[in-house]
Amino acid sequence: MAPPLDLQGRHIVLGLSGGIACYKAADLARELVKAGATVQVVMSDAAAQFITPLTMQALTNRPVFASQWDARPANAMAHIELSREADAILVAPASADFIAQLAQGRAGELLPLLCLARPIERCPLLVAPAMNREMWAHPATQRNVAQIAADGAVVLGPGSGEQACGETGDGRMLEPEQLRDALIAFFQPKWLAGSSVLITAGPTFEAIDPVRGITNLSSGKMGFAIARAAAEAGAEVTLVAGPVHLPTPQGVRRIDVTSAQQMFDAVLPAARRHRVFVATAAVADWRPAQFNGQKIKKDGKKVAPSFELTENPDILAAVAQLPAAERPWCVGFAAESHELARHAREKLQRKGVPLVVGNLGPATFGRDDNQLLLVDAAGERELPAADKLTLARALVREIAQRMNP
Ligand code: CTP
Repeated sequence: MAPPLDLQGRHIVLGLSGGIACYKAADLARELVKAGATVQVVMSDAAAQFITPLTMQALTNRPVFASQWDARPANAMAHIELSREADAILVAPASADFIAQLAQGRAGELLPLLCLARPIERCPLLVAPAMNREMWAHPATQRNVAQIAADGAVVLGPGSGEQACGETGDGRMLEPEQLRDALIAFFQPKWLAGSSVLITAGPTFEAIDPVRGITNLSSGKMGFAIARAAAEAGAEVTLVAGPVHLPTPQGVRRIDVTSAQQMFDAVLPAARRHRVFVATAAVADWRPAQFNGQKIKKDGKKVAPSFELTENPDILAAVAQLPAAERPWCVGFAAESHELARHAREKLQRKGVPLVVGNLGPATFGRDDNQLLLVDAAGERELPAADKLTLARALVREIAQRMNP
């Protein structure tokens, strides 16, 4: 199932001010178009020194605007027309000079003029700073950034790392995919604003010896999608992840663990500080009772080694048994192969949680889509087959509604 076109129907004005990061704006324009947006590029004179309007026109399929004297709009007022159509203005890269112009309400060029003339309550402004680290750290820039944020602009980044000038530090423009995802997140409803969510995801790995262990086929994709959806919905998110190869969703704090015991040790103290706990991890129920410090060798033996297993702590049940004042609102997952509703309801009672989300394990492990059955005291509700991010967003909404009916 194809991932959602998250910017379908959105019209974005993409502003470029002068900076070497303009080379990344071409990729950004493409990412926005691929996500379904229509993109109108507006460039400052300085930006045109770094990348040609022709490149941006070809990528967005629309002529670029660069001058406030452009006579193309019927009323010859590009600065008014462009922002009236836009669902958002995203300026990437935003140079130190552009941010200073914004902070002062200057209007000497089309791009700052357009931002000044936008209907502030209807057309949000997002800016992605990009500059040398000394310029970023300068008190004048910091003052200007604080001012534009106070005036309602959303400041995205900057990132940190190697810079085009050869120095290393804060001031890099966020990567095109990060900016795309930040814009997508910006448009999501804020169901969990002011809340905090703790999530477990992925498998655990229970070591037998230094090279072997017991694990399972969980990919972690559902838990990572829920982490992203919760962050998009305005929550502060902590993700405790077993061994998986997935990128951390933006704005999410990640704690990597390997075994069930490590996951337990990371989750229990954190649970008290979170409003919601979502246990999607496929935690190994058992671990080898003894860890062999050295690799178990075959050494010509004909008899296979046998292991004693011991039970792992149940993380979800332990969180659900915290005293009421410290206990987050708990959501369990049930991965079943059959009789989903019955098993999910049993789990709801056994673990003492207000919501269990059932899915068919073998049908979903490692895949990009899924189908969920929500089981709680009131009954059952199906979230029909969709990609995991779409389901995660729907689940986040269901959780928010149950917590604050
Ligand atoms: N869980 C947990 N810690 C464990 C085991 C499970 O936090 N040690 C959580 C999972 O993250 C999931 C739910 O509990 O939210 C699954 O319950 P569980 O009892 O593990 O289900 P199964 O192992 O599938 O139970 P059964 O084997 O009886 O089907």
